[in-house]
Amino acid sequence: MQIGNLMIETPVFLAPMAGISDYPYRQLIREMGGQLLYTEMISSKGLVYGNERSRELIDFNRREKGLIAVQIFGEDPVFMREAAAILAVEYQPDLIDLNMGCPMPKIVKSGSGSALLQDAKRAGEIMAAVVNAVKLPVTVKIRAGWDRSRLNAVEIAQLAEEKGVKAVAVHARTRDQFYLGKADWQIIQLVKEKVNIPVIGNGDIFSPEDAGAMITGTGCDAVMIGRAVRGNPWLIHRTSHFLQTGEVLAEPDCPERIKTALSHLEGAVAYFGERLGIPRMRKHLAWYLKGLPHSTSIKERIFQLNQYQQVAALLKEYLHMITGPAER
Ligand SMILES: Cc1cc2nc3c(=O)[nH]c(=O)nc-3n(C[C@H](O)[C@H](O)[C@H](O)COP(=O)(O)O)c2cc1C
Repeated sequence: MQIGNLMIETPVFLAPMAGISDYPYRQLIREMGGQLLYTEMISSKGLVYGNERSRELIDFNRREKGLIAVQIFGEDPVFMREAAAILAVEYQPDLIDLNMGCPMPKIVKSGSGSALLQDAKRAGEIMAAVVNAVKLPVTVKIRAGWDRSRLNAVEIAQLAEEKGVKAVAVHARTRDQFYLGKADWQIIQLVKEKVNIPVIGNGDIFSPEDAGAMITGTGCDAVMIGRAVRGNPWLIHRTSHFLQTGEVLAEPDCPERIKTALSHLEGAVAYFGERLGIPRMRKHLAWYLKGLPHSTSIKERIFQLNQYQQVAALLKEYLHMITGPAER
């Protein structure tokens, strides 16, 4: 598929997820065959004011092989335009994505994220400001609407197309659903029928087969996967493989899960340092271990530890327990 001038072979994208889609995790997914990966959302104001935290979140460099989409949020077209210009000059991502779907009260109160679904005029101004500021393709990520009585994804997607946005990602939930309830994929189909730019379907893909069903059912051009990738970085490649071949690759076994958790831990500590990296990794490790034998007690012990060597030793001990001495 193509987004603007960007050719994308693998239409399975890692969703932007605050606190999750960071550099170490993206690296891991890339090694497994992920192609277009989104960053966590980044504040346009933070970026313009040179806020260190915002700049850290961009955290990629051109050595990161494959394609990268940087997502920004904000309610002010001027800051959004400036932030996009900074990104284009200093960071050169492959595309810039505009967050118009975040449901969190703090974001919505400031008029950004999914609040923009309620303010089409401002949403249009932001789209136009960013599109005109950069040569990179600009995409937008939206929700079905604010609530069931205000399903306006089609209007917002049409507005995006009119303003020169090159693709629209649709999370098939309303703002007031947050992450609860079922995603209603029909809205993706409705958007697809009404715009000529590529549509990226998102919401409730938990397996390669789900992705196939979403594409068949809605006609969307690509899929974006969020929560199901947590503790499961293999899913992006397994989904691409399924879409290409119809074959469902086996899920990773226990030893592979633990070994991958160990390399993720190593990458996160190398990148963030021990003090930030260990707390950040705890949730990831819990996701990797979910459902594995004796994992509850291992997770409890991990949550007590603060040093890389201790956590790595515990994971190795666990690996040894599961596989026997040969896998040490
Ligand atoms: C912890 C978490 C953080 C998220 N952060 C972002 C974000 O920064 N930007 C964004 O557009 N969506 C964000 N999302 C929404 C996801 O990108 C995605 O739209 C949503 O989870 C639905 O897809 P899924 O059913 O595959 O998880 C986040 C979701 C979760 C669970």
